[in-house]
Amino acid sequence: MATASRTAEPDPETRGVRAFPPGFLWGTATAAYQIEGAADEDGRTPSIWDTYSHTPGRVRNGDTGDTACDHYHLWREDVALMADLGVGAYRFSVSWPRVQPTGRGPASPKGVDFYSRLVDELLDKGIQPVVTLYHWDLPQELEDAGGWPERDTAHRFADYAGLVADALGDRVTTWTTLNEPWCSAFLGYGSGVHAPGRTDQADALRAAHHLNLAHGLGTRALRDRLPTGARTSVTLNLHHVRSLTDGDADRDAARRIDGVANRIFTGPMLRGEYPEDVLRDTAHLTDWSFVRDGDTETIHRPLDFLGVNYYSPTLVSAASGPGSHTADGHGVSDHSPWPGADDVAFHRSPGTTTAMGWAVDPDGLYELLLRVKGDFPELPLVITENGAAFDDYVDPEGRVHDPERISYLHGHLAAVHRAIEAGVDVRGYFLWSLLDNFEWGHGYSKRFGAVYVDYATRRRIPKQSFHWYARVVRDGALPPDPGAGA
Ligand code: FCB
Repeated sequence: MATASRTAEPDPETRGVRAFPPGFLWGTATAAYQIEGAADEDGRTPSIWDTYSHTPGRVRNGDTGDTACDHYHLWREDVALMADLGVGAYRFSVSWPRVQPTGRGPASPKGVDFYSRLVDELLDKGIQPVVTLYHWDLPQELEDAGGWPERDTAHRFADYAGLVADALGDRVTTWTTLNEPWCSAFLGYGSGVHAPGRTDQADALRAAHHLNLAHGLGTRALRDRLPTGARTSVTLNLHHVRSLTDGDADRDAARRIDGVANRIFTGPMLRGEYPEDVLRDTAHLTDWSFVRDGDTETIHRPLDFLGVNYYSPTLVSAASGPGSHTADGHGVSDHSPWPGADDVAFHRSPGTTTAMGWAVDPDGLYELLLRVKGDFPELPLVITENGAAFDDYVDPEGRVHDPERISYLHGHLAAVHRAIEAGVDVRGYFLWSLLDNFEWGHGYSKRFGAVYVDYATRRRIPKQSFHWYARVVRDGALPPDPGAGA
């Protein structure tokens, strides 16, 4: 029987549009030291980043976070920008030395008030606050007492986590213990390109363990105080490591980097043990006796989701002599941030790069998400950072055109969408960053914002990508091509 077959023609308006699942959380992210300024106001004491940035030669152009974007005073304006962007969530970090000066003792009422007002304003605008407790600004006093290589720092962190939970736990429901502990441990204590700028690989491994422990103890402190229904997590900058060839030596180089980049954290946090191969690869540096009985159980606590930060993949091969770690995208130093991997060479991934020199590779994000799903099938994921720096400028009409950033975001959101279609449970995406800000060792020379900041006047100018992202957020969908949302 012949019937008139009518194939539904896709609506030309929606053809090629990628819709994200209902309830997908759209957000944007910042970190305290990068935006707040007001470094010595209201009782705040120096953090390791104040000391480091004030040390000549450490940060490009001698830039510091003393004033940064002056968010400490302009926070209301910044929340209004987020409301214009339409995001449902804002991921920010709490400055430890602002709420607990010196890293010990009671909370500072003025420090707490700042975050309390910020949280109220966000909630008032319908924006969910997502709090990161530690985005690298350790109180200098705790560094003076030994810093992260010292076990007590993990206990200090748990106390601090408790103080913040007591102050904000009635309104903040989503919490992250640490941001990128890999950077804290291995750039801070290994290569020294981040604060506190120390260069001892055994100390870096001790720091990694004590950061893991801080996560476990901090999660327990949060859980003890937060109402049921609150969510706790950690954010890792998981490296998507590829080997240059399929040869055994190159694949082994990739295994080693994967070990000290990723599994040194996911092992204890998500499986309750350090990977055997990581312990073996680093045995010449330390006997790991700083891992005490019960530590891995403390670290291994249920997470409500894992935060994943992704910018660019990592390409490695075996090297015959000491490897070229300075090509790893993490800053130039004579010291490697990769313990136990001295004979690994890092290569520039093919393709275009951002102003950071990082390869633009959305497939890397897709592959990484699938890998995490394969390793931890039940774990929901949130992309807690993704974005790009380009050499943005204000044109004579007062506008900032940033088509490269739009293209970057489009490609990476398409990768997230593809991963969701392939069955990965990705619950949200946070664009890094709301504002141009203090980009650590690069100072103010690298602009990651959806909003341009004129540092001389502190004026904020939403870039073209801001309007593009606002439309994506509004539609809950990605337009077919990068230009279409602008
Ligand atoms: C991440 C950091 C964030 C920002 C981006 C570009 O490693 O978490 O603060 O610097 O890189």
